[in-house]
Amino acid sequence: MCGIIGAVAQRNVVPILLEGLRRLEYRGYDSAGLVVINKGLQRVRSTGRVAELAAQIGRQKTHGHLGIAHTRWATHGGPTEDNAHPHVSTNSIAVVHNGIIENHEALRTRLKSLGYDFASETDTEVIVHLIHFYYQASRDLLVAVRAAVAELQGAYAIGVVSAEAPHQLIAARRGSPLLIGVGIEENFIASDVSALLPVTQRVIYLEDGDIADIGLLGIRIFDAEGRPVERGEHVSELSADMAELGNYRHFMQKEIHEQPRAIADTLLAGVTTHSVLPGIFGPQAEDVLGKINGVRILACGTSFHAAKVAEYWIESLAGLPCRAEVASEYRYRNSVADPDTLILTLSQSGETRDTIDALIQAKKLGHKHSLAICNVPESALVRASELKFLTRAGPEIGVASTKAFTTQLVALFLLALVLGRLHGRVSVAQEKSWLDQLRELPGLVGQALALEPEISAWAERFADKHHALFLGRGAHYPIALEGALKLKEISYIHAEAYPAGELKHGPLALVDKDMPVVAVAPNDTLLEKLKSNLQEVRARGGELYVFADQDSHFSEQDGLHLLRLPSHAGPLSPIVHTVPLQLLAYHAALCKGTDVDKPRNLAKSVTVE
Ligand code: G6P
Repeated sequence: MCGIIGAVAQRNVVPILLEGLRRLEYRGYDSAGLVVINKGLQRVRSTGRVAELAAQIGRQKTHGHLGIAHTRWATHGGPTEDNAHPHVSTNSIAVVHNGIIENHEALRTRLKSLGYDFASETDTEVIVHLIHFYYQASRDLLVAVRAAVAELQGAYAIGVVSAEAPHQLIAARRGSPLLIGVGIEENFIASDVSALLPVTQRVIYLEDGDIADIGLLGIRIFDAEGRPVERGEHVSELSADMAELGNYRHFMQKEIHEQPRAIADTLLAGVTTHSVLPGIFGPQAEDVLGKINGVRILACGTSFHAAKVAEYWIESLAGLPCRAEVASEYRYRNSVADPDTLILTLSQSGETRDTIDALIQAKKLGHKHSLAICNVPESALVRASELKFLTRAGPEIGVASTKAFTTQLVALFLLALVLGRLHGRVSVAQEKSWLDQLRELPGLVGQALALEPEISAWAERFADKHHALFLGRGAHYPIALEGALKLKEISYIHAEAYPAGELKHGPLALVDKDMPVVAVAPNDTLLEKLKSNLQEVRARGGELYVFADQDSHFSEQDGLHLLRLPSHAGPLSPIVHTVPLQLLAYHAALCKGTDVDKPRNLAKSVTVE
């Protein structure tokens, strides 16, 4: 949450900063702002979206060769212009910040007693005054930043500039992500590589506690102890157009349609014709995965729903106990730890605070082994885990997660197969057969996508509803949960999901003609039971929207609308059944005219508790 970008160059950096902000907007969109150094500090801020900031800058013709910029997801203080970053001290030093400073109240009191006036309610403003305070003594920005961050408690990624140093950009991070982009006689910083792709693919990931002194020609990095360090340079595999909208109306729609490609790419990561190579989870994976006695999965939001599906797969295919838990709950619980239970964290971004802290808690409780399944290389979660698997979804911009979810499911299925084989539950022949089915998956997802026109027609009937129920059974119950989450996130229609068998224990009381009920109804062993549950809905006048498989016996009747997906995909069916629910939410949101890619109050990367 909150995106930051900075640039030092021989050309005007304003277009680079604005394009970077557009690409970081998924991280927060309450307000935006930038500072450039051009005969002093020039600051432009605006509430609302980056487009509004860009319009303001266009009118004022702001330009400069050094600058920092920020897009905000409000934590301390409302989304006003005064609270928008960059924050400045005595019109000479400016800071952009992503994170939360936990001791900001004490620092604020101290700085006020030293004569500093505060212009905002943010925690960030203490950072800039503190840097200014130390700058008075040293007249050296790097030294001042080092002294200031030593006093900060909490999480920060910051970019700092001074009117007195027109070619110097200082960056520091602890807990929040920040990387350096390396150019030719120009250098950059950003929260995320996608912000820099139009200018460079060469990146250096800063580690916790690092401070970097960045100029036109050189970059000096110091670790938490102040020692000069070398951090390796990486060339990103991503290209600038991967984060472009192309012919789609929204990123969410684009990302839904990218799923066949994303799934195929994720499979390519290490699947041969006959087997999944355990090494795809890391060099020590075969040894570690062979000796674990269970799996505990920690995740948030959509990633948690993927974790819930994995419970079914890992228990049935590998015969290992598997439990998924919401990371924000686990982190504060004294759970009973078995050191040999693998801690598996799932996260699109790899920077969700609750998930990272849950992993730290698990290690503290004595868990010996950890695996992260993540979509972002070098993210904090990946770096903190013993084993890793990178999904190949590509950049996901829409706040509501779609392709990251289905590629997580593919990764989890591969993990279940590897565990099954290492624990003697899956034979070589069975593994080959599962892999043959996995290779069919992109095609099956493509067929599900082809239902978009019919789903869009259904969505029109949801637009005037205030509530919806989603039902599923077995591994499709988490898919119903995900369908309900998608609908509420982007269309603001209140939606709940239940295991269909639980309906009669309460939620049935809600069913009437105004409550659409969506049923995920694959042709599996539970179908007949599910049909009985659906009868209970019809008998109460409820209107049913059923996603069934091609090969199951259903007929359209009064009060029952039916769409057919491809023939039943066995254990992979949850992945296929996800797609129509994403499309339903997307088209319901379109009918309601909401901001699909940037739903109100939300952000994609939640780096605060
Ligand atoms: C936020 C996003 C969700 C996402 C969740 C977990 O709430 O809006 O789409 O599922 O964070 O994010 P992660 O990056 O850890 O998967």
